[in-house]
Amino acid sequence: MNRLILLFLFFAYVSDLKAQELKTGAANFPSPVTFTTEQDHRNMMQQLGIQSLRPGPSGDETAPNHANYDETLANPCPQLPEILTTKNGEKVTTPEIWWNKRRPEIVEDFEREVYGRLPKNIQAVNWKVEITDYEFVGWTPVVAKKITGQVDNSSYPLIDVNIDMMLVIPLNVKGPVPVLMMFGRPTFPSPAQPSQENMDKINKAFKDVLIKESPGLKAVFEQYPAYNPLKRDNPFAVNQRQGEPSPTEQLLAAGWGYLTIDPGSIQADNGAGLTRGIIGLVNKGQPRKPDDWGALRAWAWGAARALDYLETDTLVDARKVGIEGVSRYGKAALVTLAFEPRFAVGLIGSSGKGGVTLHRRVFGEAVESLTGGGYYWMAGNYLKYGAAESSFGSKSGCDLPVDSHQLLALCAPRPTFISYGIPEKGDAKWLDQKGSYMATIAAGPVFKLLGVKDLGFSNDYLKEEMPPVNSGLLEGTLAWRQHDGGHTDAPNFQYFIPWANKLLNYEKVPARR
Ligand code: GCU
Repeated sequence: MNRLILLFLFFAYVSDLKAQELKTGAANFPSPVTFTTEQDHRNMMQQLGIQSLRPGPSGDETAPNHANYDETLANPCPQLPEILTTKNGEKVTTPEIWWNKRRPEIVEDFEREVYGRLPKNIQAVNWKVEITDYEFVGWTPVVAKKITGQVDNSSYPLIDVNIDMMLVIPLNVKGPVPVLMMFGRPTFPSPAQPSQENMDKINKAFKDVLIKESPGLKAVFEQYPAYNPLKRDNPFAVNQRQGEPSPTEQLLAAGWGYLTIDPGSIQADNGAGLTRGIIGLVNKGQPRKPDDWGALRAWAWGAARALDYLETDTLVDARKVGIEGVSRYGKAALVTLAFEPRFAVGLIGSSGKGGVTLHRRVFGEAVESLTGGGYYWMAGNYLKYGAAESSFGSKSGCDLPVDSHQLLALCAPRPTFISYGIPEKGDAKWLDQKGSYMATIAAGPVFKLLGVKDLGFSNDYLKEEMPPVNSGLLEGTLAWRQHDGGHTDAPNFQYFIPWANKLLNYEKVPARR
């Protein structure tokens, strides 16, 4: 009898699966390619005619193959690509020539060789506010919205992409408010809780269930009749904490909202995932072509779609939305700001190679690190610059048509804040703070051409010295500050917020009660 039931359930399950497939039409679609990261990497090497890549250096300074940290060897090709000369040698002397000729040339090179292009046929995103919760963060009343962006997958139903994000807006200031979008984990800051009366009901039901499960607990609960297993949290605990308020608390206190967006819900942070996520969905589960987008560009695309949502939310001033990230998400934040002009400001934290640091620098993380372990962040074409043997010989970072000073220049004239910490506290030398400073200095001429201030020194990136730790260069629209903390941008928020307020011309106004 039991067997019969099992058999019946099995057939019911199978026919349900079939029905599902018929409904979605999934049966008509070839399955996505399943590669390991290693196989995907190989596949791209084959597409490019690369036999071998130079291995990336070790981050461990005691290892024999450790990265270079000798400043005298760090600039093998010190001449950076010209920033204000077009490919046919025309000097860029006006904003018009920059916008119409030079900037598009730089965009094209970055898209083709470095980060990859956005496909033309990316599916639409359908946004839905799943949960709206009224909460307190410290003393600040906020509304927190859990929002999901479902990407239309009717063209390839075997891959689902649901962008996951959390928008938190202060309700004690007059809106609409600016918002800082942050690559990170979306969570409710302090979920609203049931009243004490409802807690009592929940505790009663919970005790009943526990007693049913383990009848021996009845005597325990009777021995401690006032004890309740579930407690309300103290919503004001934040105020009792010692030390500096967190970045998001600082934003709310300054009258900013924030949005956290989960990069992994857009595109996985590994090579095996390239036939899944938004990249895989657009490619219908097939591997990338050499100029297809990598994960950084995909994350940046997701951020731009999130900005589409913000443009529809009346609580938000969508002309004052910033982008922030640290480390690999610092790279993603820079790529977002560079390619999406609707982002008004950026806080680029400890981004290193593939972010603010010059590709041409040989100090810490190398081009070979990004053609090896980090290859899926980049376009496939980027692998060429790590090639040791290939149909086109060997290439290095010195052969790149562009460098990171030009990526920074794509952000101009929008406020761009470059943040680092110090190696002693864990913001490793690997990130090459100095190479990042050089790029920031070298990006200056474009900010000035477009009528705003750069760091305020000459643009001689080989001569200018990094300022001392904790002394920010915050007078310009391009700003730099190396704090004395670790691999985080949190210590720079207290400088970033007033700087951004000034440049975006925002001052919070208390809400009328
Ligand atoms: C590694 C990697 C960096 C990256 C960092 C991170 O250090 O080499 O490129 O920024 O991880 O994201 O944590």
